[in-house]
Amino acid sequence: MSADIVYLNGQYLPADEARISVFDRGFLFSDSVYEVIPFYQGQGFRLEQHLARLENSLRMISLEASYPWEAILSELISRNGGGNLSAYLQVTRGNAGRRSFVYDADLQPTVFACCSPIRDIYAAGPEQQVEYRVIVTEDQRWRRCDIKATGLLPNILAQQQARQVGADEALLMRDGRLMEGASSNLFIVRDGVIHTPSMSYGILGGTTRELVIELAQAHQLPLQESDFGYTELIQADEVWITSSTRGVVPVIEVDSQMIGQGKKGPLWRLMFEYFTRQQRELMAGEGHV
Ligand code: PDD
Repeated sequence: MSADIVYLNGQYLPADEARISVFDRGFLFSDSVYEVIPFYQGQGFRLEQHLARLENSLRMISLEASYPWEAILSELISRNGGGNLSAYLQVTRGNAGRRSFVYDADLQPTVFACCSPIRDIYAAGPEQQVEYRVIVTEDQRWRRCDIKATGLLPNILAQQQARQVGADEALLMRDGRLMEGASSNLFIVRDGVIHTPSMSYGILGGTTRELVIELAQAHQLPLQESDFGYTELIQADEVWITSSTRGVVPVIEVDSQMIGQGKKGPLWRLMFEYFTRQQRELMAGEGHV
């Protein structure tokens, strides 16, 4: 399936015909925010939560942009053949016609959306799911990582560092605390309790993180939003990372050290089952989850 129709400022057009100005503030300054939203069988997964986070990111950078996001995205998904796609939506502060740090409040935002095929996590059983090897590296990002902004250079460098040693993700550490992955949130299991770093020190409020917390509560699995350091991570019985495009992924190695038994853990298996059940319910037409 090709996924090459994009949305730009009110138009749907082939990706190679889409143009933005070199003076667009998103291009010059990363003065922009974004979302990545999975669609399964054409239906947005946690769509409401993604759009609420987008509105929050926009508000946090004082960018006034009010558009029918849901309609824009569902049209984009259907023009690209529907099915399982992840939608990327970016809103920039627009084109000021010159490079200037300060901006006028009346700029017209640039709205861009595209989509790409996504792995249908729900379709395969737990045995077929990937296992990650990760590294831990210093968190070089700014302090407002709760805003989903497109300035991702530190995230890119961290993930590239992971790739250079054959790892799948980089976990970011700041002041002795594990924060999150370069493009994911982090969970560990210790003595039957699930822990995930708190929101206190400026991590992204992941929609998948939120769903895992909800699922743990719904199924009476003990979960604490509490911060932890490197030793707790390495000595954990299980480590998981979560994101919209990858779901809940078991981590079997951190910095080449084996986690638990070096294979998918029992609590991950439970969470995977609850998680994929949500996806299947969405696709069975039971509406947004
Ligand atoms: N990244 N933390 C960071 C730094 C992220 O970039 C992401 C997602 C997450 C997980 O959030 P969610 O569960 O809502 O996807 C956490 C997306 C997928 C990306 O940048 O491509």
